[in-house]
Amino acid sequence: MKKVIIILISILAIAGIIIGLNFNKIKDNLKPNPYIELGYSKSDLKVINTLKNPDIILKYKYDKNIIAIIKNKDFAETNLPNYLALLNSNLELDDIILIGNKYYDENITYTNDIVSLMKEKYYIHDNLERYLKYRETYDKDNYNLVLEVNANLDKTFYVDTEPADLSKENLILVNKFYYLDKDYMPDDLVLIDAKYGVRQYIKSITYEAYKTMWEAASNEGLTLYINSPYRSYNTQSGLYNNYAARDGISLADTYSARPGFSEHQTGLAFDVTSKTTNFDNFAYSNEYKWLQDNAYKYGFILRYPKGKEYITGYQYESWHYRYVGKDIAKYIHDNDITYEEYYAYFVK
Ligand code: DAL
Ligand code: ZN
Repeated sequence: MKKVIIILISILAIAGIIIGLNFNKIKDNLKPNPYIELGYSKSDLKVINTLKNPDIILKYKYDKNIIAIIKNKDFAETNLPNYLALLNSNLELDDIILIGNKYYDENITYTNDIVSLMKEKYYIHDNLERYLKYRETYDKDNYNLVLEVNANLDKTFYVDTEPADLSKENLILVNKFYYLDKDYMPDDLVLIDAKYGVRQYIKSITYEAYKTMWEAASNEGLTLYINSPYRSYNTQSGLYNNYAARDGISLADTYSARPGFSEHQTGLAFDVTSKTTNFDNFAYSNEYKWLQDNAYKYGFILRYPKGKEYITGYQYESWHYRYVGKDIAKYIHDNDITYEEYYAYFVK
């Protein structure tokens, strides 16, 4: 009998402990739950409870999309306020996530049209207003739109100019928008050996890469020759003024840079031909063919390609190469874009 009483008391004690431990849970279950009251189900609650600060949801009406957003693979809780603000936008959930994560700005009314721009390969969010304005003005298709605005084609050559960004060092962009000062001069110019080209100066990093390329070409029986490497502001000034006097400004502008606007002043660019061809027939030489397939391996890009004249502002120049380093040269080669386009998206 005593034994039975002891067992009964033990059972009661254990039951008491179990109930005691779960008391809070039981209490919670009995309490009205504000999410359930809004319309969320018990399984929705499980999703909501994965959040650190779920209360923000209580400020909104019941919406099953909120649960879908939280379950999305790209969901980030810090951006939850952005997603919630976009709920009434008629956008696809994936697009709400994309904008909420990368581009949310409370001053923009996001439409599917804007979202399709955002999905363009080289979309730059800071340029959004310019894209929209450019499209309104020119009615071009989206692919060109993004690249063209990135390359500043909504601006005017030689009018909307600003100083080139020297902090970009070897990745500096000098073109009809970005100029160098009259007295800008690279501090590491070296004299070219007669074996490789004219006895003039070039930036040392350009020279080292060029010599390696020269040897590789030479091993295949080809002879590269630099005709024009670094040019000072004054040299460019003399050249351009002569051309302009001879051909007129608008024609000269298609093939010669105005002083301060020439990439030659950076020491990172040079004109190269074979030892036996001139500029005009270089495009038909074996050296040129070789450069097309190999220059990028040494860090060089053809700077003014055929078909990209409207972007670079210059006629096709088979002879003008620019040092950008191997990785970037490969990217530009493989993706068939200009340095203007590359710079806007990856460097600027
Ligand atoms: N020929 C190139 C564009 C220059 O003058 O720099
Ligand atoms: Zn050149």
